[in-house]
Amino acid sequence: MVSDQLLAKLNDQMNFEFYSAQAYLALAAYCSSESWEGFSHWFIRQAEEEKAHGMKIFHFINNLGKRAIVTGMESPNNEVNSLLDAFESAYAHEQEVTRRIYELSDVALNEREHATYQFLKWFVDEQVEEESTFDSLVQRLRRVGNDSNALFILDADLGKRGAVPAAE
Ligand SMILES: [Fe+2]
Repeated sequence: MVSDQLLAKLNDQMNFEFYSAQAYLALAAYCSSESWEGFSHWFIRQAEEEKAHGMKIFHFINNLGKRAIVTGMESPNNEVNSLLDAFESAYAHEQEVTRRIYELSDVALNEREHATYQFLKWFVDEQVEEESTFDSLVQRLRRVGNDSNALFILDADLGKRGAVPAAE
């Protein structure tokens, strides 16, 4: 049985995933404004993925027989002014997501709510991937610096990112 506290935290995480989608759309908008269409496309795909993560929790809450409460959130960072800045901001955001998922998992474990704990395991694994992806992109951007040829190659490469499967 999920406690009110755990349900509230699950609900917060659902909204934070939707907020993540907003954050990545803001970064996509920056990239697009600088005509980095590949980077922009990559962030749009990332935003779609975050929406799917939020929907995963939305459906989980429904399956618990509870009602998900969709809330507004503060504005994301619309002030980035370089690709490196955008990816560093995204990496920091993913670290915050991991912190929240761990906190949520701790609550589920403390309550011996194993179904929720199992559900969250998927997010724990996903965060390993997310942090690794962003860390690697930050490192690549640092290495490339202002080398426009290398940036063009990276832009083309990230522009190939495929669609995410829809949340079940
Ligand atoms: Fe996510």
